[in-house]
Amino acid sequence: MGGSGTDRLSGWRRTHRCGDLRASDIGADVILMGWASSHRDHGGVIFVDLRDRWGITQVVFDPAVSKEVHRRAEHVRPEYVIAVKGRVRARMEGMANAKLATGEIEVICSELRVLNVAEPPPIQVDGPPANEEIRLKYRYLDLRRPIMQRNLELRHAAAQATRRFLCAQDFVEIETPTFVSSTPEGARDYLVPSRVWPGRFYALPQSPQIYKQLLMVAGMDRYFQIVRCYRDEDLRADRQPEFTQIDVEMSFVEEADVMRVAEGITRSVYKETIGYDVPDSFPHLDYADAMSRYGSDKPDIRFGLEMVDVTGIAAESDFKVFRAVTEAGGIVSAINVKGGASFSRKQVDDMTPFVAQYGAKGAAWMKVAERGLESNIAKFFNEGVQNALRERLSAEQGDLLVFVADQAPIVYQALGNLRLKFGNDLNLIDKSKFAFLWVTNFPLLSWDEEENRWVANHHPFTSPVLEDLDLFVSGGDPGRIRARAYDLVINGTEVGGGSIRIHQRHVQQQMFDLLGISSEEAERRFGYLLNAFRYGAPPHGGIAFGFDRMVMQLAGQESIREVIAFPKTNTAASPMDGSPSEVDERQLRELGLRLRHVKHAGTA
Ligand code: AMO
Ligand code: AMP
Repeated sequence: MGGSGTDRLSGWRRTHRCGDLRASDIGADVILMGWASSHRDHGGVIFVDLRDRWGITQVVFDPAVSKEVHRRAEHVRPEYVIAVKGRVRARMEGMANAKLATGEIEVICSELRVLNVAEPPPIQVDGPPANEEIRLKYRYLDLRRPIMQRNLELRHAAAQATRRFLCAQDFVEIETPTFVSSTPEGARDYLVPSRVWPGRFYALPQSPQIYKQLLMVAGMDRYFQIVRCYRDEDLRADRQPEFTQIDVEMSFVEEADVMRVAEGITRSVYKETIGYDVPDSFPHLDYADAMSRYGSDKPDIRFGLEMVDVTGIAAESDFKVFRAVTEAGGIVSAINVKGGASFSRKQVDDMTPFVAQYGAKGAAWMKVAERGLESNIAKFFNEGVQNALRERLSAEQGDLLVFVADQAPIVYQALGNLRLKFGNDLNLIDKSKFAFLWVTNFPLLSWDEEENRWVANHHPFTSPVLEDLDLFVSGGDPGRIRARAYDLVINGTEVGGGSIRIHQRHVQQQMFDLLGISSEEAERRFGYLLNAFRYGAPPHGGIAFGFDRMVMQLAGQESIREVIAFPKTNTAASPMDGSPSEVDERQLRELGLRLRHVKHAGTA
């Protein structure tokens, strides 16, 4: 016995792991170690499921074999760490468990060592998941759950597949700093105060963007890194304050070259983790088409139900909502829900509050009946208009046509999300499939109403399509300049994004001018990159994958928290270690900091 009634290993070594033993091992003498899972007492015989990362083996404690061992087994509780010595035998007739790899056998225990005891665990490891707060507080117990162990193994396998693929293609894995000066990725930075430089701060990188470009200037040619990034933004299921990217940069390349590498990474990862065959190349969709057909720049193309612009036809109707919207420069778009004419009144009525979440004022509908279109507003649509709508929407008897009229961004949001909802509700999505898509030809800039200036849609180092830039210089509309950027979308999630970069100083300067960034500010924030561009920067481009998102999809999970060992909650906290935590007055003083207006999230 060791301390507090526990035993020592004292020379015992595992002969097998808990997932190893099969019928072919019957008769073997074995030593297994692991955690005691469920504990059942059947007429004096005790059964314990012994668990480790590799599986579960049923262990039997029979007083007929050893009274002493049986007596000690009575004290074994869930999550005790035990070692058993015993012999493998077949399970009794009819007791085999086909769901378990070891289900044909059990180990009849002749010696038991209790290596450690456990208090009643706040999480039932072999039960259903606890609520998330508890799961994160006791993450080490939550991670004992087989599904979580599979998720972490899958993540590991995905990282290895990525490394294998990129190394074979001559990419070099290079680490970049985590203490940097503010990076311009569009979210807020996490800041780290400097003690040595009172009043100054490092930023944690939102991505290694500038460093990887500098590595191209440095002649490394092909770089990658599986790297942690930090962004202080509103969190949700697919956003964490710290997350991981597969970051790639290449020299002497154009879009197609980067895409080929990204497709190769994707193919290797999917094949080597879940055995899924990814197509050789992915389809491309223009940003503008993505918006007008799916209402989203990250469309889920596993199903149809596409949006169709009917503005021209709607303008001919007598429905005042449609006329007012079209006259005000808005659009009318529609989806044809096949078979939707059988929707109940409630299903139809529920569309209104649903689209209202996205700012739409209503969802007009028409059921396609034998005699024509039927609806509360059908009377405003004469036969000609009805026929034009039916033709444009390929409407057939039994369909439901749903319309949203508003300014384009609202229509896209509202109808795009309604499309996704119907896709789910009507089971139009084949969940066994992955749909890969490149979205391209993004506008370089968008107008920021609040700041009253143009802002970069990606980051300010993304190259414009140079012909578009020339058009702008000769008096064109900055909103029409296209970016040489591309997003990788998988099943409606933005899994990656990248671009061909600006590599010439004067173009970079033009870009800063467009963004209203003064030379002084550009010098202060990105002077080191501009400087580097003086000394021979090669044409270059790259991409970054959201690694957590990719693994989440591979694991069939709905949140990236399921594939991160120690994630934060949606309020960027860790219930386990208590971060973010308060610090000593002395620490603050050393940093030259004083707190003011301290207000905690969740307190008034
Ligand atoms: P971007 O900002 O598009 O590009 O990020 C790349 C990918 O990272 C993932 N991602 C996130 N995942 C989890 N939590 C977050 N908070 C989060 N934010 C982003 C997304 C996204 O597609 N430097 C550029 C890449 C480049 O141009 O090469 C960049 O960071 O899946
Ligand atoms: P109303 O004229 O407000 O009674 O609306 C008649 C129908 O038109 C209802 O089914 C509304 O949901 C729908 N509707 C109202 N505004 C819009 C809009 N902007 N786009 C689409 N449908 C709308």
